[in-house]
Amino acid sequence: MIPHPVVKARYASSEERPGYVKQLFDEGAEHYDPVVGWGFFGTGNLYRKDAQRRHGLKPGMQLLDVASGTGLMAVAASEVLGGAETITCVEPSDGMLAVAKKKLNATFIQSGAESMPLPDEQFDFLTVGYALRHFADLEATFREFHRVLKSGGKVLILEATRPQGKFGSWLFKLYFGQIYPFFSRLLTRSAKAEEMMVYFWETMDTCVRPEQVQAAFVAASFTEVKRKALVWVFSEYTAVKA
Ligand SMILES: C[S@@+](CC[C@H](N)C(=O)[O-])C[C@H]1O[C@@H](n2cnc3c(N)ncnc32)[C@H](O)[C@@H]1O
Repeated sequence: MIPHPVVKARYASSEERPGYVKQLFDEGAEHYDPVVGWGFFGTGNLYRKDAQRRHGLKPGMQLLDVASGTGLMAVAASEVLGGAETITCVEPSDGMLAVAKKKLNATFIQSGAESMPLPDEQFDFLTVGYALRHFADLEATFREFHRVLKSGGKVLILEATRPQGKFGSWLFKLYFGQIYPFFSRLLTRSAKAEEMMVYFWETMDTCVRPEQVQAAFVAASFTEVKRKALVWVFSEYTAVKA
């Protein structure tokens, strides 16, 4: 199950998508933290930490943070875990990895989520922050998550989801489709920062609905598949390996 159709304005086929996405994040990496910081009104670290705690992340756990980017999920997790020694970050972009490595003493692996150079059954907890839309295939990627988790291990995916009601949808489009990209450009003076945020909107707008994400987890043999929605927009998906 692909998370969204080809974005024709950016690339011609799904084969070209990973190359486009890698270049986008490589070139936008230096702007990612400031843009995400103001765009979510400085709540990012607190929210990530709170979600990780609420869903059961505890000191002593082996954590895999997939699509770790500049390390925002991993930094929050290191505050919950009391250090980064048990954190492994998987991320394909050189630019994003370079920023993350300056912040954390974790293990870093350059890879996509779809096939990770990691042994079976190594992790207690697996997180993904705002990257679900970039995976080539949801079911296949979730099967890979299932493989690397220990029995009883848990996945937590945070994602922004377009609301369904007319007013919510309009407001969401106005903010993420126009205001956020405009200010990203204004504050960073970078066309790449703007493009990163426009692409964020384009992929959210056309992303599969939450029921389909949950069905992909079930198809990948996960149990206790749940979605919690906060302020209509923030989805917290959780699933457990039996
Ligand atoms: C919006 S950033 C999220 C970063 C971080 N998780 C956070 O919470 O801020 C999306 C990240 O997904 C990464 N990414 C893109 N395609 C990926 C793939 N196929 N597998 C794993 N990560 C991918 C990008 O390089 C980028 O760093």
